[in-house]
Amino acid sequence: MGNDAKQLLKDLGRHQLVDGYPLVVDLDRCHGSWIHDRVNDCEFLDVFTCFASWPLGYNHPKFKDPEIAEAMARASLSKVANSDIYSEDLCEFVDAFATHVTPPGFPHHFWVSGGSLAVENAMKTAFDWKARKLGRTDFHDSVNDLTILHFKQAFHGRSGYTMSVTNTLPDKVGLFPKFDWPRVHNPTIHYNLDGTISNDIAAEEARACAEIEAAFELASANGTHIAAILIEPMQGEGGDNHFRTEFLQALRNYADEREALLLFDEVQTGFFGSGKPWFWQRQGVAPDIVSFGKKTQVCGIYASNRINEVEENVFERSSRINSTWGGNLVDMVRCRKFIEIIVEEKLGEHITRIGEHVMSGLRSIASDTNAFKSVRGCGSLIAFTFDPAEARREMIAALFDRRVIALPCGEDSVRFRLPLNFTLEEADELLSRVESCVPLVTRI
Ligand SMILES: Cc1ncc(COP(=O)(O)O)c(C=O)c1O
Repeated sequence: MGNDAKQLLKDLGRHQLVDGYPLVVDLDRCHGSWIHDRVNDCEFLDVFTCFASWPLGYNHPKFKDPEIAEAMARASLSKVANSDIYSEDLCEFVDAFATHVTPPGFPHHFWVSGGSLAVENAMKTAFDWKARKLGRTDFHDSVNDLTILHFKQAFHGRSGYTMSVTNTLPDKVGLFPKFDWPRVHNPTIHYNLDGTISNDIAAEEARACAEIEAAFELASANGTHIAAILIEPMQGEGGDNHFRTEFLQALRNYADEREALLLFDEVQTGFFGSGKPWFWQRQGVAPDIVSFGKKTQVCGIYASNRINEVEENVFERSSRINSTWGGNLVDMVRCRKFIEIIVEEKLGEHITRIGEHVMSGLRSIASDTNAFKSVRGCGSLIAFTFDPAEARREMIAALFDRRVIALPCGEDSVRFRLPLNFTLEEADELLSRVESCVPLVTRI
């Protein structure tokens, strides 16, 4: 079995880049939070969840219900263009999403495949809105003076417009042409081991706000227009960087005062990852548009009535934002079932409790061993930081040797992305494996 699986990887490498994990996943034998690897015939504890994309672990028993099995088979046999051909499966999905996942006050939805495309369509919605606010309604009007204000260490994807706002590692966006849009300081919270803030966050925020104000002033001076402020309410790939409510409120105020839209990219944080349907609901500062993807399976945006301030906006006028498939029906059916299970089993509350348990365990390992610091997070989204940064690489390698798949983020942090139905026993198993790795990593 092991040799066959190794051969599969070799064969695959003849045709494409094979630079991921050295595993061959056995989908039949994966269960819950455990990935079965054919190469070593063993199980890995999955706290990377396909880069925060797989909400309930593998082979959830409720997917054996005949109703969902039939719906999945039906949707997979005929791939329809959902934007223009409306099926009952589509209607059921949209109703479940709009009822249980989208918060009140956001009447507009748009579906597409891929998180980057979700973010791009949020940006397109903002460009169209701003252009019309400026009185440019003729499709031949030039709008090359519209920009998106965004943040350092942001990750929004690797296609089209999103490459101009992603700036985590240079290999992701270097050597591709980009727009030179305003990029400002990200006032990240650092934490003590009791969860309190350890850095001078008010000074950090003052610096960010000064840069934002300077960007708006520069735009007025050089005749450009900031159409939107775009931020991940918690930056994932950039380092699991959390922001204070005060700062998000300041962004809300800038967006309102300067006639810009506030876009939250929740591709990584959304769909109950934080315990709430949306990360922003923990802090209560509402955006104008949210982009989502990953755990939602089908990606897209939802938007508030602020978009209706302009006539013929992208939710009224046909064809302004669109794609052939309009998302994938199989993803929609699967997402509908995920929503049902999450609501039925109260998994938002569950993962909030499990997340607290994991963070408290990590904090006690950190205070006993001094191996890492700044334990932070909520629900399924947890991270901690190493100093020196090299120790982070050692921790991830040691965890992998102990059959745990975890992810790096930023320059010096490890992030966990737990399945929403992660059990208390699995949480304790994770903590014990982390603890066993500590002797192998350089201490602070
Ligand atoms: C916050 C955020 N936005 C956008 C994306 C891009 O999503 P995708 O890789 O599905 O295009 C990601 C992916 O990691 C992300 O974390």
